[in-house]
Amino acid sequence: MIGGSRRLAGGWIGEMKVAIFGLGYVGAVSGACLAELGHEVVGVDVSGAKVDLINRGEAPIVEEMIAELTAQAVQLGKFRAITDAAAAVHASEISLVSVGTPTAPDGTPDLSYVDHVVAEIGAALKGRREPHIVVIRSTVPPGATEKRFAPVLEQAAGEKLGQRIHLAFNPEFLREGRSVRDFHQPPFTIIGAMSDAGFEGVKRLYDGVESETIRTDPATAESIKLLSNAWHGLKVAFANEAARILKTAGVDARKALEIFAKDTVLNISPAYLRPGFAFGGSCLPKDLRAMISIADKGQASAPIMKAAIASNEAHLDAALAAVRACGRRPVVLFGLAFKPGTDDLRESPYVALAERLIGKGYALQIVDPYVDASRLMGKNKEFIEREIPHFVELMARDAEDAVDAAEIIVYGHATGVDKGAIIERGIGKVLIDLSGDKELELCGADYRGVGW
Ligand SMILES: NC(=O)c1ccc[n+]([C@@H]2O[C@H](COP(=O)([O-])OP(=O)(O)OC[C@H]3O[C@@H](n4cnc5c(N)ncnc54)[C@H](O)[C@@H]3O)[C@@H](O)[C@H]2O)c1
Repeated sequence: MIGGSRRLAGGWIGEMKVAIFGLGYVGAVSGACLAELGHEVVGVDVSGAKVDLINRGEAPIVEEMIAELTAQAVQLGKFRAITDAAAAVHASEISLVSVGTPTAPDGTPDLSYVDHVVAEIGAALKGRREPHIVVIRSTVPPGATEKRFAPVLEQAAGEKLGQRIHLAFNPEFLREGRSVRDFHQPPFTIIGAMSDAGFEGVKRLYDGVESETIRTDPATAESIKLLSNAWHGLKVAFANEAARILKTAGVDARKALEIFAKDTVLNISPAYLRPGFAFGGSCLPKDLRAMISIADKGQASAPIMKAAIASNEAHLDAALAAVRACGRRPVVLFGLAFKPGTDDLRESPYVALAERLIGKGYALQIVDPYVDASRLMGKNKEFIEREIPHFVELMARDAEDAVDAAEIIVYGHATGVDKGAIIERGIGKVLIDLSGDKELELCGADYRGVGW
């Protein structure tokens, strides 16, 4: 059902005059759905055939529900299409850019179609007085909106952005095949706005769509779209790789993965998705190796499982490189056990990092009160005596003294009291954060995150 604008105490809201550049999957679906929300939409495409189709009330794409929605929107005069970019801009208060960003021969996304359209919109806005919001919806690499399209728009319009003309990035999360439903029920609405007015305008566009609206900077918004698709690709490839491996062991992965996905606490959840340091401990590396050995035995290829181990090693290398970039100065490492609050040292990535630092000749002290050699029991005592007896003398008794004696603080994890010692006494020292602790960023040290 095509809706109309709604009148609230403050005036008419909901209805906006919208231009959509690029009437492919994203543009055609957005056009029909935004018209359904009550907006007045003019689509623009270089393809006269697509423009004609829409003006006849026919959708230029095949997609569930889109034929009916397009016909209805066009019939009600809410959706039309033209090839004249300037005329579309002049008839609108907001322009959405959803032209293609295909892969260029060198593997990078070809942004020239977006450049072209942004320049066209800028030229159409030049010398006019009406406010306008330009919204990039095509998938582009982080930084493109602010560093590449903003200068193009400013130059073409002949004025600075943020006063009359606003620019934002607003990713599209629709899935082909069910894109109309996804338009109405997106996982979230992300607005990478460069100004408040830009944010408010894009938010108004989705008035009537029920989802959480998140405002962030354009580069973060751009990266979320790429991360999402990379993650979805990784999930599909993981499921298929798991199936190949399990098949060699006589297990039906359809059954196993169905049950696996029921765990929304650890498996399908934000758990293990926070950037930090390398994984380790007594289970993850061991069981990844077990999966790889099953694959190798059954002659099934397991590049993802193998790459997980290689990627973990690369993270360890990155931490070592961050320390080495500071020159050879005394280091204090906070955290030795693989997890805070435990004394388990088996396959701890902090042990691996400490070993490499010692190997490179660093003077090293380690602060981890849970790993007190005199209190270590069972397997851990055995491990320290057998594998790393030389660590006993590196363990600092007092965090404050250890910070004072060091010039580089490497932070894995610490008790609240020991973290207090870093915050109080770390000023002027280099602090390499392996854990992504926002509190440490403000502590007055020369803060360097390992991956942020
Ligand atoms: N297809 C999806 O499911 C999907 C989902 C989310 C995001 N995206 C992203 O959105 C963007 C568009 O994807 P799509 O699948 O809709 O692309 P598409 O190739 O189906 O459509 C792009 C349209 O842009 C038109 N166009 C090219 N240059 C133009 C110009 N100068 N002026 C006006 N129109 C022009 C083309 O004629 C075409 O109709 C891409 O960056 C894509 O990665 C796609």
